[in-house]
Amino acid sequence: MRTPYRHEPFTDFENEDNRKAMLQALDQVKGELGKTYPLIIGGERVETEDKIVSVNPANPEEIIGYVSKTDRELAEKAIQVADETFNEWRKSDPAVRADILFKAAAIVRRRKTEFTAWAIKEGGKPWKEADADVAEGIDFLEYYGREMLRLKDGGHVISRENEYNQYHYIPLGVGIVISPWNFLFAIMAGTCVSALVTGNTVLLKPASATPVIAYKLLEVLEEAGLPKGVVNYVPGPGREVGDYLVEHPRTRFVSFTGSRAVGTGIFEKAAKVQEGQKWLKRSVIEMGGKDTIVVDSDADLELAAESIVQSAFGFSGQKCSACSRAVIVGDAYDEVKRLVVEKTKKISAGDPHDNSYFTGPVIEQKAYDKIMEYIEIGKKEANLLIGGDGDDSNGWFVQPTVFGEADQQAKIMQEEIFGPVVALTKAKDFDDAIEIANNTDYGLTGAVISRDRDHIEKARRDFHVGNLYFNRGCTAAIVGYQPFGGFDMSGTDSKAGGPDYLLQFMQAKTTSEMF
Ligand code: NAD
Ligand code: ALA
Repeated sequence: MRTPYRHEPFTDFENEDNRKAMLQALDQVKGELGKTYPLIIGGERVETEDKIVSVNPANPEEIIGYVSKTDRELAEKAIQVADETFNEWRKSDPAVRADILFKAAAIVRRRKTEFTAWAIKEGGKPWKEADADVAEGIDFLEYYGREMLRLKDGGHVISRENEYNQYHYIPLGVGIVISPWNFLFAIMAGTCVSALVTGNTVLLKPASATPVIAYKLLEVLEEAGLPKGVVNYVPGPGREVGDYLVEHPRTRFVSFTGSRAVGTGIFEKAAKVQEGQKWLKRSVIEMGGKDTIVVDSDADLELAAESIVQSAFGFSGQKCSACSRAVIVGDAYDEVKRLVVEKTKKISAGDPHDNSYFTGPVIEQKAYDKIMEYIEIGKKEANLLIGGDGDDSNGWFVQPTVFGEADQQAKIMQEEIFGPVVALTKAKDFDDAIEIANNTDYGLTGAVISRDRDHIEKARRDFHVGNLYFNRGCTAAIVGYQPFGGFDMSGTDSKAGGPDYLLQFMQAKTTSEMF
């Protein structure tokens, strides 16, 4: 009997022992930088000439690793291997599959500071964010293992006399898992293991900015006893290898997390039935957000400002859940604005290596340029209250930036910036605030800071987002506690870390036997 699921605790880095252990792990990882990593297809290591170069975003001269790049020929080979492996893996005992996840969780837990160090180096995450990313990955392993045990005997159906009806969940087939760089361990691990624990075989294509930590997960899964060919590691350029895999007739499902532009394209490509394809592909597509914190006129304004600043600038705003808009009701506006600026003044961005900055760099030059472009747009559309500068001379650092008096239709109020930029706007009353909060194409997260029970209930009903929080920030969902996924252009609302998640990677089969 397993203990009930509980989320992995976060590490207290104020504790001197923990701090020392983290510094030691960073030293250890530093000694392992710059290695080369092959593809893994059917357990076989395949080196290619062409390499992805993964760098530390806080110091791009520091090479994290050189990773082999999948081409179409190798992608085809990996699909064939996954297809063949599926014939055996689909018959494996779900409880054994769950045990592989539990063992992998134990291995990562034992090597937690080391994985955190990789997340700091490859993702540019501050210690606290990197620790939370690894903890969330462990949670996915533990939670989906337990979920598979819960679902392995199927659903409850009724049988009449002399009849035996059963309702079982069976796997789908070969799945393509395409993950983003921003939760380089957690989302990559969660989307990969949910697909395999349900009996599918997987081609894992991690983001090109963060492929090394994904290779490390594959090694852990092998050590935990995962048979060869169940997960195949196929990093490569999204457009070439991604499109090929998504459109392949043997692909049975796609699990994608990333931007709206890429996600909608994948959804469309996966929907087209290819020659020789004999099923409709399933698509689990989780995309961006334009997430709002609403502050009521009677709210605890200190809490409101703290929630806005933490949710906007944690990991430099590079979370789909990040607060990029704050809508403040009436008279509360001026005081919240003052407090947000005051709190923003106290935080800074710098190299996360020694844990002395609130936040780190943004992931790459392209992201830096895009964010700085939005900041220039913001300077024309609203009042710059603080920040507004960046430095890309060594690493990609953007100052936490706050705009005030933003028009609700302004670009900075409508488009996902994915950087440390938040815009404040004033609402006439609470109804108006909810209307403004709902007026984007997205529907991922939101928060309401209020003491008014009627307003809280109104928001519960009318604020149209997949994850709505009251009297706290809008980031940091915990696996098994706050299942995560968004409405509208934020995606298919798959609710990662929730009780319905695994069902998306299985199909139900009814059998009825006469006795
Ligand atoms: P991205 O869309 O650029 O890339 C995501 C993945 O898709 C990467 O592995 C990339 O290589 C791959 N890819 C790119 N083009 C492809 C193609 N044509 N075919 C197949 N794969 C392709 O996103 P990103 O920059 O890595 O991540 C940031 C985005 O992800 C933000 O928009 C953020 O909001 C979103 N995100 C959403 C969630 C969520 O749960 N809703 C979680 C994290 C991040
Ligand atoms: N699950 C992550 C959060 O809630 C994206 O912040």
